[in-house]
Order: sequence, then C-alpha cells, then structure tokens
Amino acid sequence: MANKKNVFEKAFNDRFDEDYKILSDFYCSLYGNKKKTFNELIKIIKGAYKDRKDALKSSDVERTKEQDWFLSEKMIAATLYVDLFADNIKGLKEKINYLKDLGVNYIHFLPVLKTREGKDDGGYAVSSFVEINPKLGTMAEFEDLLDKMREEGMVACVDFVMNHTAKEHEWAKRAWNGEKEYQDMYYMYDSYDIPAEFEKALPEIFPDLAPGNFSYYDEIGKWVFTTFNEYQWDLNYKNPATLNRIVKDLLFLINKGVDVIRLDAVRHIWKEIGTDCSSLPQCNTIVSILKTAVDMVCPGVIFIGEAITNSKYVIEYFGTRYSGCQMMYNVSLMTSLWNSLATRDARYMALCLENTPEIPKGVCWNNYIRCHDDIAYVLEPDEVKKLGFDPFWHEQFLISFYKGDFPGSFSKGAYYAYNETTKNARISGTLASLCGLERALHEDSKADIELSIRRINLLYAVMLAFDGIPLIYSGDEIATLNDYSYKGNSEKSNDSRWLHRTKFDWNRAENKHNMTTPEGAVFQHLKKLINVRKQYPFFRSGLHLKPFDTVSSHVFGGFKKDGDSSFILVANFSEHYVEIDQQSIRNTGFCGSFRDILSDLELNLDIGRLHLKPYQFLWLANTNK
Ligand code: GLC
Ligand code: GLC
Repeated sequence: MANKKNVFEKAFNDRFDEDYKILSDFYCSLYGNKKKTFNELIKIIKGAYKDRKDALKSSDVERTKEQDWFLSEKMIAATLYVDLFADNIKGLKEKINYLKDLGVNYIHFLPVLKTREGKDDGGYAVSSFVEINPKLGTMAEFEDLLDKMREEGMVACVDFVMNHTAKEHEWAKRAWNGEKEYQDMYYMYDSYDIPAEFEKALPEIFPDLAPGNFSYYDEIGKWVFTTFNEYQWDLNYKNPATLNRIVKDLLFLINKGVDVIRLDAVRHIWKEIGTDCSSLPQCNTIVSILKTAVDMVCPGVIFIGEAITNSKYVIEYFGTRYSGCQMMYNVSLMTSLWNSLATRDARYMALCLENTPEIPKGVCWNNYIRCHDDIAYVLEPDEVKKLGFDPFWHEQFLISFYKGDFPGSFSKGAYYAYNETTKNARISGTLASLCGLERALHEDSKADIELSIRRINLLYAVMLAFDGIPLIYSGDEIATLNDYSYKGNSEKSNDSRWLHRTKFDWNRAENKHNMTTPEGAVFQHLKKLINVRKQYPFFRSGLHLKPFDTVSSHVFGGFKKDGDSSFILVANFSEHYVEIDQQSIRNTGFCGSFRDILSDLELNLDIGRLHLKPYQFLWLANTNK
C-alpha cells in the first residue's frame, strides 16, 4: 500500500511540475501577475489532491496510460434527470441495468446539485456546489452510485453550472447583505449606466421569460447581471477570487468520482461591453485554467462544453490534455438531421459537413439529436444561400414545421423563447412527437405510425454512424411522447422545455421487447445499432465520415476508410422510394462486394442501381468481421 501511495505521489509531483508553467501562463494572461490569488489556487489544487481517494488515484494512473479512453467506438451516452428517471439516486442505482441493457456505458446526470426552492431552471440555478439536491438524496449516496458505476466500467458525467449561481447561493446572499468581497464575485452596479452600455450589444437568451440581461433590486439598490433568469446571477470571472472558489468546488465534486464535467453555458462566462458577450477568447482561457488544474489533480477527467452556436465558434473550445474542452456538442450535425428530415433534402447536411473544420486530434464530438433543452436551428446562412434558400425564411420554415403549423407537417412541438421582434424561436418536443408519432397515433394511421418510427430509426442510424460519442436523451429510446401536464404547474408552465422533460414511463419500457409497439420497435432498433457500432473500430472518434454526392437530394451519403476496412453510409431522408446510381458510390473509389452490417444483406456495388425504401438507411462495410 505504502508503495502504491509513493507511485501516486510521484505521478502527482511529475504532473504538477509539468503543468505548473502552463497553468501560470494561462493565469497571467488573464489576471496579470497576481501572486496572492495564484498561490491560493495552487493551495486549492494541492489540497484537492490530498483529499482524492486511492481508488480514484488508481484509475487516474490507468487513464494516464490511455489518454484517449473516451474516443472509443464503444462509448455510448445517455442523458437523464435522476428524479424523472428513477425518483432519486437510490432508485437510479436499481435501474441502471435498464441502461446497460440498451448498451449505455456513460451517463450524463442532469443537474444533481442543490438548487433554490421554487423555480430553478430545471436544476440550473445552483445554490450549493458541494451539496446534492436533497430531493435526490445525499452526497454519500451519490458517491456510492459513482463507485458502483466505476466498478461496472461505466462513466459518469455531471453538470457544472459555472456561469451563474442561484441568488440563494451563500455567495450571493452575502453579496446581498452588503459584503464587498462577495459583491465582487458578481456583476453588481448602483446605476443603470454600465448595464445600458452592455445592453447595446447583448442579445437575449430568454426574450419572453426573462427579457433583458440585468435585474434590479430595490432592497439593495443594485443592478445585477442575469443573462438567464432573474434568479440566476452571473459570476464575475474578472475577479480571480471567483475563479479560485469555483476551482475548489469543481475539484471537490470531481473527487466524488466524476469522469466528465459538463461546463454549462460556457460561452457566456466572460463579458465585455460592446460585444455580444458570447464566446470571447477569455472563456477558453478560463476553461484552460480549470483543465490544467484538473490535469494536475485527476488526469483523465475530461470536459464537455456546452456552446450551442455556430460550429466555427464551437471548434475554438476544443483543447488538449491541459487546455480547453475535450468534447463539444455537435450542433451542426443536430441541426442538419432535423433540417434534412423536414426538407427531405440532405444536401445541407453534406455541405455543412464539408465545411466544418476538422477537429484537433485527441478530442471528439458529442453527437445528439435531442437533449434536455430546446432545439435551436443553428444554420450557416452562407450554406443555406448556396442551396438557393433565404436563411431567414428557411429558419422560419423549420420553426413552423416542427411546431406543427406548416401545412403537411408530421411534427408536434412547441415554441421556445419566441422573440417577437426577430421572429426567431427554438423548438421543444420529444424525438417521437417531433418525428410524427404523436400525430399518427392521434389520427390512428398505421401507415403514419410506421413512417414516424422509420424517421426515428433513421436519425439514430445516421447519428450513430458519425464519429463522436452518441448521446441518447432518456425516454427517446422508447419513443416517449410530449407530456403537456407541465402547463398545469405554475413553476413550469411558461417553460415549454418541460414538454420533453417527461417522467420516465416504466410501463412503456415494459414493451421494449415487443416489436409491434413503437417503444419496442425503437428500443430494439437502437440497441442493435449500438451493439453493431461497438464491434467496428471504424466508428471510433477521429475517423471522420466524408460526404459524397449521391445525385439524389433525398439521400445522404458518407464514407470512411480505416486501413483495409471501409464504411459507407447511405440514408434516404424522404418517405419516397428512391433509386440511386451506384456509380455515385463508385466515384468515391469503392467497388465490389459490401455488406449491410445491420441486416447482413450483401450488395455488389458493381452492378445495378440501389433501391431505397422510405427512410431506409444502410451501414455498408467491406469487412468480413
Ligand atoms: C444551459 C442548460 C439550460 C439552462 C441554461 C442556463 O444552457 O442546458 O438548461 O437553462 O444553461 O443555466
Ligand atoms: C442558450 C444558451 C445555451 C442554452 C440555451 C437554453 O442557447 O446559450 O447555453 O442551452 O440557451 O435553452
């Protein structure tokens, strides 16, 4: 044991020496030569290492040998609210086999930390970073769950809401009570002069629910920066003391056994007058300071950044072992999937993929169709124009289509954050309802039910063919429908995201083996995709799918080569029978015999044409595995 301890100790000291200069450079670039706060930061880091338990130090050593553990084709993630899924942490521990059965080995727990009473933005108004939400259980129970997951080879990801705290957080309360030290942790102003300057260039995140970016409090005579809701006070990272406190709490949480930290709303953490306060370069420097600190204490723990914006900004957040994020949400893929489904035209997807810069080595995308938030259609205006559409009207079409208003739409969703002035909106709704199942069931149309299931299966098949970690939004795997009951709850009624934040229906899940039900048809299909994906190393991260022209605008085609094995994805985004000339596939350099690894059907690329059924997809491989 003593020997082991020495090994850990030596590894820590080596890392510490290696990272020290990197940390200090990042720190100085942001704060100048602030020795006192920097030394405090070092103390926090050393203290956190001391507190880290041996079991975790042991897995750190393993992870250091295998830095790219998360790039494996075997990683499959699910994202869930503990209470909606299994009431509480203890319940979740019991239900974990359900996720394992699907093939999931990575769970992103939506906020589990203590939040304010009443409205809490779905857990994103944190009142203590070191306590678990008592409704879910205790920190000891959570730690126990993470231990169990580690034993079973599962990975745990936890949200870290660092842009703001609830106004009920102790720091905010002390600021409210007039303690200058704590007021300096937030953006607080006596008059509206500075806020007015900020507002000139700031957009609104929640234009309908929480207009403006500042809130005024009569009681204390102060304006406070509140990008999101009034009760979420933005933290001021211009003050190094804020960063130090955040590092301390972050390391405390990681020391419970967390493998992946989701940095929430990361593009908002640095503010400058005259800018839109989004994705400023300092955001990344802050992330890099956090990452270097994490590398010192617990190498192998990675960050996923949430920046729902144009991919060219998203790319900038990617880093290395010591900097930036190792995973980012693939907003372009998500948008492209929904765009292709509504337009029955996959050209945007191909164009967008072609124009997305390659991501650095050693990091990956987090691919998703849905998550707990609304869907923002983040289209690239230039690419939309190239296809002959007007970007504004095209976005209006998508919004109207997925809300279900556009004539002929199969979808049923709701507006989110509708902006009266710009007419912009995002969309809420479950995968199944947005894909047409709700409407089809309502109309009792067997044919439409079938089509909606095919749409869901198609989206999953395309997403899982891409490199990056696929993320499944809990409930979507059993084709859960929108739940309108939030409208009767005054704490939720004005936030349509609750439409798809539904209580997990375990009765529905009972049907997961019954292929004649939508839940069974979706679950079994997804399970199969996951299972097949795990068997082929060409699905690992870093091996990108390249689009090719299938000649049919309905059909997306992509391919990749991995040594001797090759993979081709063909996906028909329309409800029509489509025929494509196999020459289009041969143009990529492939020929001869291929096999659909999902159905085992053989296909000879040299003869004939390819006939695709409505929403049919193929995962073609030349490998004999
Ligand atoms: C992130 C979360 C979202 C929340 C917001 C404010 O975007 O995903 O649910 O509303 O941050 O914390
Ligand atoms: C904005 C935020 C993003 C969040 C979303 C909440 O897009 O930038 O962080 O997910 O609002 O709906």
